[in-house]
Amino acid sequence: MAKDWSPSSWRSKPIEQVPAYPDLGALAETEKRLATFPPLVFAGEARKLKKALGEVAEGRSFLLQGGDCAESFAEHGADNIRDFFRAFLQMAVVLTFAASSPVVKVGRIAGQFAKPRSSGSETKDGVTLPSYRGDIINGIEFDESQRIPSPDRQEMAYRQSAATLNLLRAFAQGGYANLDNVHQWMLGFVSGSPQAERYGQLADRISETMNFMRAIGINSDSYPALRETDFFTSHEALLLGYEEALTRVDSTSGEWYATSGHMIWIGDRTRQLGNAHVEYCRGIKNPIGLKCGPSLGADDLIRLIDVLNPQNEAGRLTLITRFGHEKVGDHLPRLVRAVEREGRKVVWSCDPMHGNTITVNDYKTRPFDRILAEVEAFFDVHRAEGTHAGGIHIEMTGKDVTECTGGAARPVLAEDLSDRYHTHCDPRLNASQALELAFLTAERIKKEQEAHRPSQAVGF
Ligand code: TRP
Ligand code: MN
Repeated sequence: MAKDWSPSSWRSKPIEQVPAYPDLGALAETEKRLATFPPLVFAGEARKLKKALGEVAEGRSFLLQGGDCAESFAEHGADNIRDFFRAFLQMAVVLTFAASSPVVKVGRIAGQFAKPRSSGSETKDGVTLPSYRGDIINGIEFDESQRIPSPDRQEMAYRQSAATLNLLRAFAQGGYANLDNVHQWMLGFVSGSPQAERYGQLADRISETMNFMRAIGINSDSYPALRETDFFTSHEALLLGYEEALTRVDSTSGEWYATSGHMIWIGDRTRQLGNAHVEYCRGIKNPIGLKCGPSLGADDLIRLIDVLNPQNEAGRLTLITRFGHEKVGDHLPRLVRAVEREGRKVVWSCDPMHGNTITVNDYKTRPFDRILAEVEAFFDVHRAEGTHAGGIHIEMTGKDVTECTGGAARPVLAEDLSDRYHTHCDPRLNASQALELAFLTAERIKKEQEAHRPSQAVGF
């Protein structure tokens, strides 16, 4: 077990991004009550995810992580969850086929409620109120009663997470994730796309493979693996009182686990060595993510790895890099080289969203081309360094929103942004933009494989 660590040891460390709860007694009561509630996930599941991520770290699998920037209480409906899952699974199929390797599926969902903010307050027409910090903390409306942090919201977030997770488990294991379904949805997307010809080639090869499998008796009746999938949850572990309340000892191993989600990550704003968020995460055994932005030094990264993954366990730590499409080349090589030099086992994942946010017509948006350019640059660097481009981490929804501009299937123009701009926080890829990114990433993965694989002599 980690030395001098307890689920509450973060409380004595410096901390960033703390909401100003007016009633600390009420907050403590809520945390006490949460600590008596059932865990949302089990330690065995977190271990399974860690093992799967270990395969990514070793270069044998690919990680797909995605979902809302921030989940919301108002939009907690079955349709939203289903549509997200539907888009996400289609991406997974395309990537699995291209990579010829398993895709580890991790949603930013069932717990992604707390948001770090660059400023603690917001002023409108001379009125200053606390900034919105996510539905688990306060309300988004610019209204005093909404913006004052309320502990009751933590209980609502817990219950929403439980309900969301329940539906996701049913979808993943109950037949909805059947490969035949997902394949048909994907074909529907391709046939409706102006890029039908380009994506159709990959889609046709998947269809052929599915037909071949059926012909030789491999179908979803005989093989459960074809009708089920492992789907995991993740969120930023920002609100540490909530996380602490859901931190539990696993009875089989005697180790501490965060049971608020399978994987949790540390944000780029709260990753200071010696501070509370790093302190909390070092003591739990779940797989951990660390967001790495331009201000992260290579030496600091190694020191963070020392603290977060002292046993150098493959799958424990995922480095989620987010530099901006033009800055990947300035920052990623120095981090990759330091990690390689020190022999650290990590998953490298690309977040092409957060470094590419701009404001257009007063809307925060992200041009699809820049998102794609960051993914491409990420692959370029890993090719040059001889390391595994392990995954992507994106903000997306299954709905047809207009938050990011561009995309070929149904391009969103700057003047369309106001049509269906629904996000509570950052702009997300809509379903067709997300799927398009999967196809383009798949093409890139194929290219990498062709570059690496010695040409095989096929004798017929
Ligand atoms: N079980 C396999 C997997 O998760 C195959 C599979 C079934 C699948 N349904 C899926 C893959 C949906 C992607 C999407 O990889
Ligand atoms: Mn975001």
